[in-house]
Amino acid sequence: MRLEIKDLHVSILDDQSKEILKGLSLTVNTGEMHAIMGPNGNGKSTLAATIMGNPKYVVTSGEILLDGKNLLKMSVDERSRAGIFLAMQNPMEISGVTNADFIKSAMQTRLSEGEHVPLFKFIKALDKSVADLKMNPDLPQRYINEGFSGGEKKRNEILQMKMLKPHFAILDEIDSGLDVDALKIVGENINNMASPDFGSIVITHYQRLLDYIDVSHVHILMDGKIVRSGGKELITKIDQDGYDWLKLELGLEDMEEPKKAVLGVCGAKKTK
Ligand SMILES: Nc1ncnc2c1ncn2[C@@H]1O[C@H](COP(=O)(O)OP(=O)(O)O)[C@@H](O)[C@H]1O
Ligand SMILES: [Mg+2]
Repeated sequence: MRLEIKDLHVSILDDQSKEILKGLSLTVNTGEMHAIMGPNGNGKSTLAATIMGNPKYVVTSGEILLDGKNLLKMSVDERSRAGIFLAMQNPMEISGVTNADFIKSAMQTRLSEGEHVPLFKFIKALDKSVADLKMNPDLPQRYINEGFSGGEKKRNEILQMKMLKPHFAILDEIDSGLDVDALKIVGENINNMASPDFGSIVITHYQRLLDYIDVSHVHILMDGKIVRSGGKELITKIDQDGYDWLKLELGLEDMEEPKKAVLGVCGAKKTK
């Protein structure tokens, strides 16, 4: 399968004068693992939310296609059933619904009428995934994310992914709030999803998570666009030098402390 994002422009519903994504293009095929890196506040979560269909974000132009089909016309649950999965940067707590029931219901909606999730197989698979993630065995019976630590919430997103087996998983800063041990477990579990039927977009601010994931493509998202794409060597470069060199090359202003004099000189180097 193929997920294609073409010249995507996105604004915020409440303030449509504010454009966040400014012509973003990206193609991900199943069988590929992509990383998107970039400084905070540049639109990474906006991209993730827009692919999943969060109504707070408005697509003003451009398209997203899933195997040539217009994803933007589909509701959130249609997108989910079509095989798109989002692990959110800040997972929500849902009181009154257990993790196990939630996952089972989500699996049920993927079956045809009259079919049912086989209970014994489901429990076995869930127990195995919980063990793979070294989660507390009682987590499936607890309400979704209620009272979970930050790290447990993140693992819980990966648990859902392992059970639902999406075609495309977008993992938004799944590494934030994880200690080194949890980072390794989560990274390895993501890496183990690799299959010809699975593609992923791993969004991260730091390179550490990517030590465990064999990504095939690396992209840098800045100022609402993919400004660089390459292989794993880009991760090393960012790790060593940060993003400033790229901001200079692209003539982007530093949001925190504008360096007008420097940028004036480098403005001539704009790539467009
Ligand atoms: N719902 C929203 N309301 C107002 N501003 C938003 C909203 N979502 C994102 N933004 C703004 O859009 C920009 C990009 O945010 P985001 O996509 O979260 O960046 P990143 O994930 O790269 O840190 C930021 O300036 C942020 O403040
Ligand atoms: Mg974000």
